Amino acid sequence: MDVDTGIDDSLALLYLLASPEAEIVGIAATAGNVAAAQVAVNNLAWLDVCRAPAIEVALGAAEPLAVPLRTTEDTHGPQGIGYAELPAPTRHLSRRSAARMWVETVRERPGEVVGLCTGPLTNLALALRLEPELPRLLRRLVIMGGAFNHPGNTTPTNEWNIHVDPEAAKEVFDAFAAAPADRRPIVCALDITETIEMHPEHLRRLAERAGCPPRDPARESDPEGTRSSAPNPVVRHVEDAVRFYFEFHRRYDQGYLAHMHDPFAAAVALDPSLAILRPATVDVELAGTITRATTVADWSGMWGREPNADIVVATDPAAFFDRLIARVGDFARAVHPLVPQEIS
Ligand code: RIB
Ligand code: CA
Repeated sequence: MDVDTGIDDSLALLYLLASPEAEIVGIAATAGNVAAAQVAVNNLAWLDVCRAPAIEVALGAAEPLAVPLRTTEDTHGPQGIGYAELPAPTRHLSRRSAARMWVETVRERPGEVVGLCTGPLTNLALALRLEPELPRLLRRLVIMGGAFNHPGNTTPTNEWNIHVDPEAAKEVFDAFAAAPADRRPIVCALDITETIEMHPEHLRRLAERAGCPPRDPARESDPEGTRSSAPNPVVRHVEDAVRFYFEFHRRYDQGYLAHMHDPFAAAVALDPSLAILRPATVDVELAGTITRATTVADWSGMWGREPNADIVVATDPAAFFDRLIARVGDFARAVHPLVPQEIS
């Protein structure tokens, strides 16, 4: 996982921890929603809350490849996890960089590792510079990023992860130009991820699945900043994180909901059959004065270049949420079984 945790990055981590078929071989902390060091702390802290096995968390570059870092605390909160206040982590960072972890992991396990990027592509680009063979050493790559036939969420045409480091995104898509068809990056762009709308009802179902007493985890009428009363720590911290995201989306007239970009990408990484894919040649605008960091898809070979991506063009959001709620709910219950007096 290469993440900029992040409220929805947090749900992606929980989804994978809750999925028995997934083995997380490493977490790269990339600067984006918040600074890389804070991203790393967030992941170490979530791993503690989830009583997860030892999983390497490696610190990524402090800045994008060519421009100063821009973060977005107004979207994800001052620490990047909304209102959630996770206990300070007891685990420690890896001694190697995120880029070196990428390179050494795929060299040790050629053809076995699926890369999942839910943040800017800075550290993957640095890894490709160290190891140009990376596209062939990876089993597959899944990227949450970009917007094609769909408005941007950061400028009118670009999406946050690409916006933060467009040079890195271009290096990544260019590097996969020669990848065989079954190794093309699967791209989960806003076209699809903005149909993955989490509502308070999803949180209520999640809490119920985790064995929490029935109650409303978040209501549109709640005062901003209301904190969760869920007895299960995983559920409580998820509710506190996602409530911040509900309030952010409402503030920008999208409704009291939250687009769950990253856990959707994680679900696709585990099971690509969740998505309908369409090949295209993707490139990234770097020089545009008002279009910089826009991802462009050539669906029909107008540029005369082979496809370098498989873009997700359709999915079933309800099926995804059923899977997310079942897995994370059961996981939360297993990790933090409720004792009778807590079910008051
Ligand atoms: O544009 C949405 C993406 O940007 C998500 O990955 C979110 O976490 C932020 O990183
Ligand atoms: Ca993210």
